[in-house]
Amino acid sequence: MNAPLLEVRSLSVAFPRGPRGFLGRGRQVLHAVSECSLTVDRGQSLGLVGESGSGKSTLARAIVGLVKPAAGAVLLDGVDLAALRGSARKAARGRVQMLHQDPFASLDPRRTALESVIEPLAIHRRFTRRERQLRALALLDAVGLEPLQAARFPHEFSGGQRQRIALARALALEPELVVLDEPTSALDVSVQAQVVGLLQELQQRFRLSYLFISHDLALVRHLCPRVSVLYAGRVVESAPTADLFGAPRHPYSRLLLSSAPTADPRLERERQRIEPPHEVRATAGSKAGAVDVRSGCAFHPRCLERDKVPGERCRRELPPLVGRGEHVSACFLPPPAEGRALGSAGADPPSRGPSGLSPSTGSGRTAGR
Ligand SMILES: Nc1ncnc2c1ncn2[C@@H]1O[C@H](COP(=O)(O)OP(=O)(O)OP(=O)(O)O)[C@@H](O)[C@H]1O
Ligand SMILES: [Mg+2]
Repeated sequence: MNAPLLEVRSLSVAFPRGPRGFLGRGRQVLHAVSECSLTVDRGQSLGLVGESGSGKSTLARAIVGLVKPAAGAVLLDGVDLAALRGSARKAARGRVQMLHQDPFASLDPRRTALESVIEPLAIHRRFTRRERQLRALALLDAVGLEPLQAARFPHEFSGGQRQRIALARALALEPELVVLDEPTSALDVSVQAQVVGLLQELQQRFRLSYLFISHDLALVRHLCPRVSVLYAGRVVESAPTADLFGAPRHPYSRLLLSSAPTADPRLERERQRIEPPHEVRATAGSKAGAVDVRSGCAFHPRCLERDKVPGERCRRELPPLVGRGEHVSACFLPPPAEGRALGSAGADPPSRGPSGLSPSTGSGRTAGR
């Protein structure tokens, strides 16, 4: 079997929180990402879903090198990116690019569309000046912009067009993997489908691999053959998309799917709302380094199925990610019987969901935004 293009191995990212204590002791740490592992195959897409604050963007930023992981590794074609130095590191970093949710934030307002696409080529000292211009024009053409538009500034474009420029810029260094962090969620609904179509077309044309982060479960289902579910910074389930949507194993995945918007207004009204995870904190600064005071499954306070596991095990022990073949989940409960599985995202009444959170307990930020 071929090695995956991207392998994320037990990656953790922690952020210091709150005031620094005496001699740096007692400072709290937010574990934004904990021991996350995933793979993306060449030319394929992996969907990454999870509610707001679950660590999707932090994981993405760690993969592209924008935040430093506390532990774990990011391997490209089996090579640990952290072990690379100098030009080898720069070249490897060019192979992985990121497209952000808000193209306004990723484009320099003082640069024209053409200059924005040329910039990464200039930084990496690729090609001559003239060649860079021609390549940038070809990329703008590939994302559907006219040559005449190349001399315009970001504010002169619509949101969808700006995202196209950001995409051309991300593709300038001919990456193999593009991390798409909610690439369409800031766009008008009418434009979203066009950008999704363009992403699919470019994936075929340039044989790109995507790590596709989205709140839109229907979109993930449509675009990604495999999906990983993140909860409170941990991967709680990974599976081929059809398996996850057809027979989600983790109680949180079932809750997430039952929370997706439905076509039925009655169900839509009743659907469960998901609170962002409680901040999971640890105390840092002891002689032994960071002391992790977390225990158990992060989802257990919200899980109505926890009582089915004897001895309060969910509160005390962290369930490992286990399963058969490509479908793995981190829950002590045995996988549900086939008949119990949800037929499709949001197609089941909320009463069948495992968490049973009452609608009034939601914080207002739902996964299906
Ligand atoms: N630079 C940072 N410094 C401190 N805390 C951070 C930083 N970036 C993210 N966090 C925290 O890490 C956690 C995960 O945030 P992250 O943005 O990765 O979530 P997300 O899943 O992308 O959410 P959303 O769906 O809203 O984009 C949050 O609690 C967030 O407040
Ligand atoms: Mg995010």
